[in-house]
Amino acid sequence: MEYVSALESYLDSFDAEPGYLDWAAFGPLSPAVRDEVHADAELLGSGRGSGIDLVAGHSDEARGLLAELLDCPTDEVTFQPSTTYGLMQAVYGLSGELLLSPLEFPALTVAAHRAQEALGTMRVCQLETADGLGFVTPDAVRDQLTDETTAVALSLVDYRTGYLADLGAIRDVIGDRLLIVDAVQGFGVVDADYDAADVVCGNGYKWLRSGRGTGFARFSAAARERLRPVLSGFRGALAEPGSTGVGPAHPGAEAFVVTGEDTLAVARLASSLQELRDVGVPAVAAEVADRARHIFALADRYDVPVLTPRDAHAGIVSLLPSAQDAGVIAAALANHGVTATARGGVIRLSAHAGTAADTLHLLGDALAEAAGARALGEPVGAVEATGDGASIFDGGSIFDGGAAGDGPTIIETGPADEPRGVIES
Ligand SMILES: Cc1ncc(COP(=O)(O)O)c(C=O)c1O
Repeated sequence: MEYVSALESYLDSFDAEPGYLDWAAFGPLSPAVRDEVHADAELLGSGRGSGIDLVAGHSDEARGLLAELLDCPTDEVTFQPSTTYGLMQAVYGLSGELLLSPLEFPALTVAAHRAQEALGTMRVCQLETADGLGFVTPDAVRDQLTDETTAVALSLVDYRTGYLADLGAIRDVIGDRLLIVDAVQGFGVVDADYDAADVVCGNGYKWLRSGRGTGFARFSAAARERLRPVLSGFRGALAEPGSTGVGPAHPGAEAFVVTGEDTLAVARLASSLQELRDVGVPAVAAEVADRARHIFALADRYDVPVLTPRDAHAGIVSLLPSAQDAGVIAAALANHGVTATARGGVIRLSAHAGTAADTLHLLGDALAEAAGARALGEPVGAVEATGDGASIFDGGSIFDGGAAGDGPTIIETGPADEPRGVIES
């Protein structure tokens, strides 16, 4: 009998249509997750206590797997509806000064500013980054720490540039200040030093392939000691059975939850974490890095400038073509059935471990077509958006969310679960 390694069966489990390069926006659900959904839905429909308990039992399983992957004790792990909910638990609980780049995904920046306005217990201090690119480097952080800084917040992988932060090096420069990490764009696909962080938040609907609602957050002992559980709900409070009073906050990480978790969602998360644990993050990370290198090579072959640093990235590779090329490339991607996110002049491509050669060929064909059109000075005719195609352009500068309108206004597409027009992932 032929031996199939865990990695091979993991890679084989990717069954999204060829051309999908938008894992940073949404990860098509894995077959194991889809099977889990059906099985658990049946159990929850049976009305049998044993079935309900069986589904609820996935919480312990998921918590254990998260603790293993985050390298922390299980009682530091909580379930959250999403990354943003976890980050809000941390940010609203802070006092003192929070050092934060204004170019972070708004999950962090909006929560921090709202918390500052509402509570007055913390202040946001804007971290300047070299060339305004938003790369949160240890040097930038070191240079801008003050005696007032109590916490630093950043993304493990930046959603726009794909920059991969070095958590260990950031920890070395911040001393014992709190380190709050938005890990949603890297969890599961990069071997990160989570132990260096105090709060790590993520969600499974991108790289874990487990769908929305599968958020989680880890709170270290220092985080639990220094953060007030301001947004805590009844599940985060201690109460005597049958008592009517409001009990004190839970002494552990559970203080930072609102209500009971969605057990169907947690079951999906458990199933995807199990798959990940079986194959191992280093093996997945190596495959993801390999796919990213292929994309870098294609960009180089067709002379498309790349924004993502080649020595610090995970699965996101962002192209930064000239204003006139951006529309041409977006149209060519759509024509070749490549799904990506294009915004403010940046074209974000994100490949997963299971992204196969057929998808990379489609990308190569699209970039070749765009390069040909560029050489001839011709536009590429854009296909109309169908809702499952490739590209959006909203013009404007790279980092302003694309409001200014000096770029082409093109097509509005993307996975259906992505809200457009407000703030995109
Ligand atoms: C870096 C980053 N943080 C947070 C979010 C939002 O995550 P969630 O939907 O889990 O709250 C996104 C979504 O794309 C993101 O890219």
